[in-house]
Amino acid sequence: MPNVSLRDLTETDRERLHVWRNSPDVAAYMYTDHEISRTEHDLWFDGLAGNPRRRYWMIELDGQPVGLANLADIDLRNRRCAWAYYLADPSVRGLGVGSYIEFWMIEHVFGTLGLNKLCCEVLAANRPVWQLHLTYGFEREALYRQHILKAGQYEDVIGLGLLARDWPALKPAMLARLRAKGFSVT
Ligand SMILES: CC(C)(COP(=O)(O)OP(=O)(O)OC[C@H]1O[C@@H](n2cnc3c(N)ncnc32)[C@H](O)[C@@H]1OP(=O)(O)O)[C@@H](O)C(=O)NCCC(=O)NCCS
Repeated sequence: MPNVSLRDLTETDRERLHVWRNSPDVAAYMYTDHEISRTEHDLWFDGLAGNPRRRYWMIELDGQPVGLANLADIDLRNRRCAWAYYLADPSVRGLGVGSYIEFWMIEHVFGTLGLNKLCCEVLAANRPVWQLHLTYGFEREALYRQHILKAGQYEDVIGLGLLARDWPALKPAMLARLRAKGFSVT
């Protein structure tokens, strides 16, 4: 059974995240894919602490760091936020870890944080990922045309959203899906 957990970032993650974010296996799916300098990375990393609009977690598989998950634009006035994640090493993709994180994040945002809406944006070309969000009950809310200029090409972006009111009806099927992938979830 895959043992997936999320923990807060620590100083020991600084270097690892710099390497991951610059790797082609991650940068390809992000909005920016220029080589991030150590100075730029340090500015970003140092800015995470004490930013109430953002939260970051290290994703671990069997105790080993494998990826990053985050909340952004946490908006307590409108009770919504956005999220994103990646698994750095392609060899740990396709094992169900992403599905588990998706479930965990939805539960965290609606349960622990008590927010009303969870949003995300995905490059339209990254079809498996926006498809994965749809499977978990997100609805496609927007097509932002030529929204991102990446490697000299304009890329479309798909905006998705999930409402807290819809989650209870969706959750049993998602739990069943995770159990079928070998996770012990309640
Ligand atoms: C997105 C990501 C975290 C998903 O995690 P994962 O552990 O690979 O996902 P899972 O193994 O839980 O797969 C979930 C479903 O998506 C499908 N899927 C995942 N990646 C796929 C791919 N590249 N091509 C086709 N299907 C894919 C799986 O078949 C599975 O479908 P199923 O539930 O019907 O069996 C991971 O693929 C990743 O890090 N991708 C690169 C970064 C990225 O795109 N992040 C999102 C940016 S918004």
